[in-house]
Amino acid sequence: MFDPTAVLEFWDESHSRWDELKALSKFLGDSPYVFIDDEPRDFYAAVAISPTDEIVGYHVFLIQPIGPEMGIAPVLDKDGGTLHEAKIRGLHVIQAWRNRGIGTRLQKFTLEQAAELGVFQVRSRSDISKAENYAIKIKLGFACHPDLRTFRDGSTAEGVYWVKRV
Ligand SMILES: CC(C)(COP(=O)(O)OP(=O)(O)OC[C@H]1O[C@@H](n2cnc3c(N)ncnc32)[C@H](O)[C@@H]1OP(=O)(O)O)[C@@H](O)C(=O)NCCC(=O)NCCS
Repeated sequence: MFDPTAVLEFWDESHSRWDELKALSKFLGDSPYVFIDDEPRDFYAAVAISPTDEIVGYHVFLIQPIGPEMGIAPVLDKDGGTLHEAKIRGLHVIQAWRNRGIGTRLQKFTLEQAAELGVFQVRSRSDISKAENYAIKIKLGFACHPDLRTFRDGSTAEGVYWVKRV
């Protein structure tokens, strides 16, 4: 189903409602995974706004070199330039607005905006429990790299890195 009533906007940290976005992600239980305080990074967000001007969904990402997050040197192009990626930090559509296509629209919009920003790829990691996100990623043609995450206490979580060239 496609619901055109939510309008998509593209924000950076200078947006007047950025603190509201951060507060919402905290309220929804997504922070501290989405925004890490004092992290010196440039964050961006595709945001879905309702007709009553509420934030009803977001897809937050930052731009980073490809490689260092995985413990390796930056990946370079043939001219020695560093390749960058949009790394997704949070995706959420509030419950009452789900299954109307907003999550899909946010992800498509992010791919477009990431291309405008000049990055090589979009990448995210989802736990295996995130069935709705898996459905969207497969529908949009993301490649899938399975991942087993090991935490400090020795526990593990199965998941997937989703990657798409923009
Ligand atoms: C993931 C999320 C953002 C999707 O938002 P949404 O607006 O409902 O997304 P859409 O309506 O565009 O698409 C939902 C898709 O999930 C599918 N889906 C719904 N319930 C499902 C289920 N139980 N199992 C598998 N797929 C399911 C729908 O069929 C739809 O796919 P389709 O368009 O191919 O039919 C939303 O579910 C959410 O916020 N979940 C909680 C947070 C979360 O899991 N974030 C992802 C972190 S990795």
